[in-house]
Amino acid sequence: MAGQKQAGNAKTPALIALLIAVIAAAGIWYAGTTRQAEAVEVRMPKLSTMAQAGQRSFVKNCAQCHGVQAGGTDKGPPLIHKIYEPNHHGDASFLRAVSAGTPQHHWPFGDMPPQPQVRRMETQAIIQFVREVQRANGIN
Ligand code: HEC
Repeated sequence: MAGQKQAGNAKTPALIALLIAVIAAAGIWYAGTTRQAEAVEVRMPKLSTMAQAGQRSFVKNCAQCHGVQAGGTDKGPPLIHKIYEPNHHGDASFLRAVSAGTPQHHWPFGDMPPQPQVRRMETQAIIQFVREVQRANGIN
Protein backbone atom coordinates (compact mmCIF):
# COMPACT_ATOMS: atom_id res chain seq x y z
CA MET A 1 0.00 0.00 0.00
CA ALA A 2 2.65 2.47 1.13
CA GLY A 3 4.76 1.64 -1.90
CA GLN A 4 1.87 2.22 -4.29
CA LYS A 5 1.04 5.52 -2.71
CA GLN A 6 4.64 6.70 -3.05
CA ALA A 7 4.71 5.74 -6.70
CA GLY A 8 1.50 7.71 -7.24
CA ASN A 9 2.97 10.78 -5.57
CA ALA A 10 6.16 10.56 -7.56
CA LYS A 11 4.15 10.93 -10.77
CA THR A 12 2.38 14.10 -9.64
CA PRO A 13 5.31 16.54 -10.09
CA ALA A 14 5.92 15.10 -13.57
CA LEU A 15 2.26 15.63 -14.47
CA ILE A 16 2.33 19.19 -13.13
CA ALA A 17 5.51 19.89 -15.11
CA LEU A 18 3.85 18.52 -18.25
CA LEU A 19 0.77 20.65 -17.63
CA ILE A 20 2.92 23.78 -17.18
CA ALA A 21 4.82 22.97 -20.37
CA VAL A 22 1.56 22.58 -22.31
CA ILE A 23 0.17 25.87 -20.96
CA ALA A 24 3.44 27.67 -21.72
CA ALA A 25 3.53 26.27 -25.25
CA ALA A 26 -0.08 27.36 -25.81
CA GLY A 27 0.80 30.83 -24.49
CA ILE A 28 3.76 31.16 -26.82
CA TRP A 29 1.68 29.95 -29.75
CA TYR A 30 -1.11 32.40 -28.90
CA ALA A 31 1.30 35.34 -28.51
CA GLY A 32 2.82 34.42 -31.86
CA THR A 33 -0.49 34.30 -33.71
CA THR A 34 -1.84 37.55 -32.23
CA ARG A 35 1.40 39.37 -33.02
CA GLN A 36 1.11 38.17 -36.58
CA ALA A 37 -2.47 39.38 -36.85
CA GLU A 38 -1.90 42.78 -35.28
CA ALA A 39 1.67 43.90 -35.79
CA VAL A 40 4.70 43.04 -37.89
CA GLU A 41 8.41 43.49 -37.28
CA VAL A 42 9.63 46.44 -39.32
CA ARG A 43 13.16 47.15 -40.49
CA MET A 44 13.73 50.94 -40.54
CA PRO A 45 15.90 52.17 -43.44
CA LYS A 46 17.76 55.46 -43.64
CA LEU A 47 14.99 57.81 -44.78
CA SER A 48 15.06 60.60 -47.36
CA THR A 49 14.33 64.14 -46.14
CA MET A 50 10.77 63.98 -47.44
CA ALA A 51 10.18 60.60 -45.82
CA GLN A 52 11.50 61.97 -42.52
CA ALA A 53 8.92 64.76 -42.68
CA GLY A 54 6.31 62.13 -43.49
CA GLN A 55 7.45 60.04 -40.54
CA ARG A 56 6.93 62.97 -38.15
CA SER A 57 3.41 63.50 -39.44
CA PHE A 58 2.75 59.75 -39.38
CA VAL A 59 3.80 59.50 -35.74
CA LYS A 60 1.48 62.41 -34.87
CA ASN A 61 -1.56 61.35 -36.91
CA CYS A 62 -1.45 57.67 -37.78
CA ALA A 63 0.79 55.82 -35.31
CA GLN A 64 -1.88 55.49 -32.63
CA CYS A 65 -3.54 52.90 -34.89
CA HIS A 66 -0.90 51.90 -37.44
CA GLY A 67 2.12 51.84 -35.08
CA VAL A 68 5.13 54.17 -34.89
CA GLN A 69 6.92 52.16 -37.60
CA ALA A 70 3.68 51.42 -39.48
CA GLY A 71 3.89 47.83 -38.22
CA GLY A 72 0.33 47.90 -36.83
CA THR A 73 -1.24 47.91 -33.35
CA ASP A 74 -4.34 46.40 -31.77
CA LYS A 75 -6.31 49.34 -33.30
CA GLY A 76 -5.14 49.24 -36.89
CA PRO A 77 -3.32 47.13 -39.47
CA PRO A 78 0.34 47.24 -40.48
CA LEU A 79 0.86 49.33 -43.62
CA ILE A 80 4.18 47.53 -44.06
CA HIS A 81 2.26 44.61 -45.49
CA LYS A 82 1.91 43.17 -48.98
CA ILE A 83 -1.78 44.17 -49.04
CA TYR A 84 -0.58 47.79 -49.19
CA GLU A 85 2.09 47.41 -51.86
CA PRO A 86 1.91 50.16 -54.50
CA ASN A 87 0.19 47.91 -57.07
CA HIS A 88 -2.62 46.99 -54.75
CA HIS A 89 -3.04 50.19 -52.73
CA GLY A 90 -1.65 52.99 -54.84
CA ASP A 91 -1.07 56.52 -53.60
CA ALA A 92 -4.69 57.42 -54.39
CA SER A 93 -5.96 54.95 -51.80
CA PHE A 94 -3.77 56.65 -49.16
CA LEU A 95 -5.09 60.09 -50.13
CA ARG A 96 -8.63 58.76 -50.02
CA ALA A 97 -8.17 56.98 -46.67
CA VAL A 98 -6.77 60.14 -45.07
CA SER A 99 -9.38 62.57 -46.44
CA ALA A 100 -12.47 60.36 -46.31
CA GLY A 101 -11.55 57.46 -44.01
CA THR A 102 -12.13 53.87 -45.02
CA PRO A 103 -14.74 51.32 -43.96
CA GLN A 104 -13.56 48.08 -42.41
CA HIS A 105 -12.92 45.61 -45.23
CA HIS A 106 -9.53 43.87 -44.99
CA TRP A 107 -9.17 43.55 -41.19
CA PRO A 108 -11.19 43.17 -37.99
CA PHE A 109 -10.24 46.56 -36.47
CA GLY A 110 -13.32 48.58 -37.48
CA ASP A 111 -13.53 51.64 -39.75
CA MET A 112 -10.71 54.12 -40.19
CA PRO A 113 -12.01 57.61 -39.38
CA PRO A 114 -11.07 60.47 -41.77
CA GLN A 115 -8.00 62.51 -40.78
CA PRO A 116 -8.93 65.94 -42.21
CA GLN A 117 -6.25 67.68 -40.13
CA VAL A 118 -3.65 66.08 -42.43
CA ARG A 119 -3.26 68.16 -45.59
CA ARG A 120 -2.63 66.70 -49.03
CA MET A 121 1.07 67.73 -49.11
CA GLU A 122 1.56 66.13 -45.71
CA THR A 123 -0.12 62.95 -46.94
CA GLN A 124 2.28 62.88 -49.90
CA ALA A 125 5.18 62.94 -47.44
CA ILE A 126 3.53 60.18 -45.38
CA ILE A 127 3.17 58.09 -48.55
CA GLN A 128 6.89 58.64 -49.28
CA PHE A 129 7.69 57.44 -45.73
CA VAL A 130 5.50 54.33 -46.03
CA ARG A 131 6.89 53.46 -49.50
CA GLU A 132 10.54 53.76 -48.37
CA VAL A 133 9.88 51.56 -45.34
CA GLN A 134 7.91 49.10 -47.48
CA ARG A 135 10.84 48.81 -49.92
CA ALA A 136 13.29 48.22 -47.07
CA ASN A 137 11.06 45.35 -45.98
CA GLY A 138 10.79 43.71 -49.38
CA ILE A 139 7.37 45.13 -50.30
CA ASN A 140 7.32 46.91 -53.65
C1 HEC B 1 -8.29 55.50 -35.37
C2 HEC B 1 -7.40 54.57 -36.04
C3 HEC B 1 -6.71 54.98 -37.32
C4 HEC B 1 -5.98 56.13 -37.58
C5 HEC B 1 -5.72 57.31 -36.65
C6 HEC B 1 -5.49 55.98 -38.92
N1 HEC B 1 -5.91 54.80 -39.46
FE1 HEC B 1 -5.52 54.14 -41.35
N2 HEC B 1 -6.70 52.50 -41.03
C7 HEC B 1 -7.27 52.16 -39.83
C8 HEC B 1 -7.94 50.90 -39.96
C9 HEC B 1 -8.68 50.16 -38.86
C10 HEC B 1 -7.76 50.48 -41.31
C11 HEC B 1 -8.19 49.15 -41.96
C12 HEC B 1 -9.54 49.16 -42.62
C13 HEC B 1 -9.77 47.78 -43.23
O1 HEC B 1 -9.27 47.54 -44.33
O2 HEC B 1 -10.39 46.93 -42.58
C14 HEC B 1 -6.98 51.52 -41.94
C15 HEC B 1 -6.60 51.48 -43.28
C16 HEC B 1 -5.75 52.40 -43.87
C17 HEC B 1 -5.33 52.36 -45.25
C18 HEC B 1 -5.82 51.41 -46.32
C19 HEC B 1 -6.98 52.03 -47.08
C20 HEC B 1 -7.63 51.11 -48.06
O3 HEC B 1 -7.98 51.59 -49.17
O4 HEC B 1 -7.79 49.92 -47.78
C21 HEC B 1 -4.43 53.37 -45.42
C22 HEC B 1 -3.71 53.72 -46.70
C23 HEC B 1 -4.32 54.06 -44.14
N3 HEC B 1 -5.13 53.45 -43.22
C24 HEC B 1 -3.51 55.13 -43.92
C25 HEC B 1 -3.55 55.92 -42.77
C26 HEC B 1 -2.78 57.13 -42.60
C27 HEC B 1 -1.80 57.69 -43.60
C28 HEC B 1 -3.14 57.64 -41.37
C29 HEC B 1 -2.67 58.95 -40.73
C30 HEC B 1 -2.82 60.17 -41.50
C31 HEC B 1 -4.11 56.74 -40.78
N4 HEC B 1 -4.32 55.71 -41.65
C32 HEC B 1 -4.70 56.93 -39.55
C33 HEC B 1 -7.24 52.91 -38.67
C34 HEC B 1 -6.65 54.15 -38.52
